[in-house]
Amino acid sequence: MKTLSCTENYHGHALSRKRLFIATFGCQMNEYDSQRMAQILQKDYRLTIAPEEADVILINTCSIREKPENKVYSLVGRYRRLKNKRPDLIIGVGGCVAQQEGQRILDRMPYVDLVFGPQAIYRLPKMLRDLSRDKSTRICATPMENDFEIPSPEAPLPNPGTVRTFVTIMQGCDNFCTYCIVPFVRGRETSRPPGAILEEIRQVVSEGVKEVTLLGQNVNSYGKKNVNFPDFAGLLRLADGIDGLRRLRFTTSHPKDLSDALINCFGRLETLCEHLHLPVQSGSSRVLKRMNRHYDRDGYLDKVERLRKACPEISLTTDLIVGFPGESERDFQDTLSLLKIVEYDQIFAFKYSPRPGTRAAEFDDQIEEEEKSRRLAEVLDLQKKIGFKRFKALENTIQEVLIESVDQAGLKGRTRGNHVVHLEGNKNLVGKLIRIRIDRAGNHSLRGSTI
Ligand code: 5AD
Ligand code: SF4
Repeated sequence: MKTLSCTENYHGHALSRKRLFIATFGCQMNEYDSQRMAQILQKDYRLTIAPEEADVILINTCSIREKPENKVYSLVGRYRRLKNKRPDLIIGVGGCVAQQEGQRILDRMPYVDLVFGPQAIYRLPKMLRDLSRDKSTRICATPMENDFEIPSPEAPLPNPGTVRTFVTIMQGCDNFCTYCIVPFVRGRETSRPPGAILEEIRQVVSEGVKEVTLLGQNVNSYGKKNVNFPDFAGLLRLADGIDGLRRLRFTTSHPKDLSDALINCFGRLETLCEHLHLPVQSGSSRVLKRMNRHYDRDGYLDKVERLRKACPEISLTTDLIVGFPGESERDFQDTLSLLKIVEYDQIFAFKYSPRPGTRAAEFDDQIEEEEKSRRLAEVLDLQKKIGFKRFKALENTIQEVLIESVDQAGLKGRTRGNHVVHLEGNKNLVGKLIRIRIDRAGNHSLRGSTI
């Protein structure tokens, strides 16, 4: 769980503002949504990191891999006792579980005042006003349509001093991978107008942000439904031209839509970092077909080869699922062998988890939990060696590092390849891009020093 924190006052409203606690689960899209919630509520609420002192608690939930019934109900239950003490407390459940479960949450949890899906975030100020005014009101807002017509809020970022942030370029997904709940809870693909995206990037850059990650469930199909919009490579070129922006990243890419135009942006656009997250999900063509991924093993490997040719230093990361229904030992070995060929810097591996309502949940050849665990352990074990080899190769190189934060352990930054670097140094370096010598590789991060 992540908690959004805020350190500054906003336009002198501090005294009159109430307190807002936001708990965030799941993907970067949810992190972005939470930031948006804080932003649009900024006029009336300031963020707190302590739920017990909050006037409003919003829980931004995720349903991608866990059973919503278990997770959300127990979590929200925790805040119940706060409400017993302070009946004025407003509790809201947002995110993908809210979208999916809707009214059922209100029925099962009488202390929840508000249920709102990802598409209803913009209505929060009004909904919270209504709830504060009339204590007997309860609201369920779970519209399915994505709406980018609503203007971006003009409020600054909720956390001043932020060095890197997300900007959403599209919402929803049309792909219907057979294991995935996202298309059911986030709706159809909708691209945001390029003007609004570029304006938001300019805005965050003017507030001191150095690195922007463009977000979408499938950024490679950006603009495909809108004749007047650029394609994704075109959008990257426009963003790359923004004054003051130092680094650009994006996530997530679907391999089937990774065009040559996009591949060729790497190593050519100055701000575009040499890192790509390209979820493979499985190394077996047979499993990929049953996942409805629209590419096969060779097609994926071919794209990797082209990426490495266009940009030899690119670091690659991926998502993969083990124990998908019907995954044989041989299919699993194909995944292991793909890892050896590609040599990812990092992977995010998951045991398949049936999501009610998806096609794969109905497949009759589900894999035993124990076997899934064994495969997961094996995949992680192999990747540990591969990842370490990749990190080790960076020892004694000089890297450009963006310093993001400081704590008792020292400074923390990131290379263009998205490797975390720890180093000693002055806290004034936060927000700066500096050249660092990499002294030592660990399993998940690097240790460096200023030169
Ligand atoms: N079970 C396990 N992993 C899943 N993912 C998505 N749906 C499921 C599921 N039902 C993983 C995929 C995706 C990542 C965000 O979550 O690997 O890329
Ligand atoms: Fe889910 Fe597939 Fe869409 Fe990604 S592309 S969000 S895995 S349906």
